[in-house]
Amino acid sequence: MHFGVDYYPEHWPEERWETDARLMREMGVEVVRLAEFAWHKLEPSMGEFDFSWLERALSVLDSQGIKAILGTPTAAPPAWLAESTPEILPVDSRGTVMGFGGRHHVCHSSAAYRSRVEGIVRAMARRFKGDGKVIGWQIDNELGNSQKELCHCESCARAFRAWLRRRYGTIDELNRRWGTVFWSQTYDSFDQVPTPRATPNAHGPSLLLDWRRFRSDLLAEFLEFQAGILREEVPGVFITHNMMGFADQVDYFRMGRSLDFVSHDQYVTGFWERSGDYRPHRYAANLDLMAALKRRSFWIMEQQAGQTGWEILGPDPEPGQLALWAAQSVAHGADAVVFFRWRSCTVGTEQFWHGILPHSGVPGRRYCELKSFISSLRPVMDEFEGALSEAEAAILFSYDEEWALGIQRQHPELDYVEQVLAYYKAFHDRNVPVDFVGEDGDFGRYKLLVAPLMYLCDQALASKLSDYAKRGGALVLTMRSGVKNADNVCMSDAPLPGALLGEALGIEIPEYDCLRMRSETIAFEGKNYSGSKWLDVVELKGARAAASCVGGRHAGCPAITEADFHDGKTYYVATEPDDALLDAFVGRALADAGVAPIGETPRGVELVRRRTDASDYVFALNHSSEARSVDAPPSWKKIVGESILGPRSFSVYRIDR
Ligand code: GAL
Repeated sequence: MHFGVDYYPEHWPEERWETDARLMREMGVEVVRLAEFAWHKLEPSMGEFDFSWLERALSVLDSQGIKAILGTPTAAPPAWLAESTPEILPVDSRGTVMGFGGRHHVCHSSAAYRSRVEGIVRAMARRFKGDGKVIGWQIDNELGNSQKELCHCESCARAFRAWLRRRYGTIDELNRRWGTVFWSQTYDSFDQVPTPRATPNAHGPSLLLDWRRFRSDLLAEFLEFQAGILREEVPGVFITHNMMGFADQVDYFRMGRSLDFVSHDQYVTGFWERSGDYRPHRYAANLDLMAALKRRSFWIMEQQAGQTGWEILGPDPEPGQLALWAAQSVAHGADAVVFFRWRSCTVGTEQFWHGILPHSGVPGRRYCELKSFISSLRPVMDEFEGALSEAEAAILFSYDEEWALGIQRQHPELDYVEQVLAYYKAFHDRNVPVDFVGEDGDFGRYKLLVAPLMYLCDQALASKLSDYAKRGGALVLTMRSGVKNADNVCMSDAPLPGALLGEALGIEIPEYDCLRMRSETIAFEGKNYSGSKWLDVVELKGARAAASCVGGRHAGCPAITEADFHDGKTYYVATEPDDALLDAFVGRALADAGVAPIGETPRGVELVRRRTDASDYVFALNHSSEARSVDAPPSWKKIVGESILGPRSFSVYRIDR
């Protein structure tokens, strides 16, 4: 299975289904995902199931050779459920019970909700068990999408306290580690610990970070709960979930553990975009994060298939872009691409989130473009199935850092993910494959590791990083490293960045400056650049200054340092470098570490690799609106596309070893 569509037969008259299935087959569709919002159609009243329409839809699809992935419909609880058990409705931080409507109007800790979830998932799984038309399951839909700041109901408060009890054991330990002596926050029992409801003033950072962890765990555990039911009822059939790239509500590393493989929803341009916002490295980074979660290839469960938007619309994708973006997904490790959605809806919230077919159902430009895309790529998809880029460089990505820095941003515009993506861009612009790796990941497989903003960095993590460099790795750390421990409390046993990191980096940071009013001029390799947002005022304790501040209060202060450390090398970037400085510095670190690019390309052309035992498959993706040529060495055999890349087009090369 390589190509598919998200299909909602329940939105259309049954007489249309055969036409849909035929058009799908003609375009090369092999699989559909369906039913993930159809709870009411599947269980019209509590305990009364009706799977007949779904069975008929599956048969019509099967008659054209199309298989199905069933979504558990738990993201759209029906009105009868909210009416009979109103306690399933979520409560916001002001204590307001949110109403029925839209989707995900639920509290994920609610026992009543879980029991109905179990009812529908088990019944559905039993009905479709052994049905050869169903090849896999998607649990719920984009968990975390609607859960920001939720939920503060009594059930969640109880679950949060139980979570804290497991983490801290006793209330005295929690008080000690959170430092609740500050502002008389000391709790006499776990029952007094609040969820962070609206208060006249700010909650403490330790409580806020644990709240984020708890909420992430709750959603991951909700997914595990459903996975458990499916594993019992339909063993051997794959289970996945559609994630959302750098969404911040759930630790996707954890969530990935209970899935056979992860899936991702890739929307490139949308109503959220401003002009000039087209940034291919960001779409690439989403995909590379997905590959990192289980270190394996993944599916795209929703790939943009048209103009998007609910109320305000994004731009209409340019001719070629839908295919190009889908090719980018495959290039970065997708083994299957399912387009969202088959046909634009005439009803409901998403009337203007366009599908492959327009509202009229008459195949047009998008249908033709994607049909020809599928026929060009399908013949080679099996060759690199399962393969990833096998990068030699990595960027550490941590939800803890993201959450902690979201709670105390330091500088109003400092954003953890943006910072991670700025480093990612420097690799991407040079066509150097770079993985993301979690804190638990295997750093040792990489020659170069960039760990931006290691703000929470307890002893264990600091020694893992330092050991990595000791054993020969090249380690780049950046500003605000080693500030806090895992309880979100400032460390005080040594000057910043802490004893272990300080030794590895050969520096000490006695002071720091939040660059609110100005930026710093930074000299690096004979040229001037700028640094903004932050400056760690570094003292050299064995390291060398590779870049320094020019003029102003911090004149002469090292802005980038480098040091030899046992068999490896360490760097510290003490500010937020502008793009050009970041590019120059990453270029230097790559050269030092001996990490080479896939190749050089003209502006706007991205090179991505999937490496199998026998060959490298290199995708050349022209994101620009002009024709570009790729200087392919003779060993590169073109297997898809043209050597001169037309505007927004792609080609694929095979390089045999
Ligand atoms: C995704 C979601 C789909 C659909 C789409 C367009 O985030 O998974 O169900 O809502 O966006 O809004």
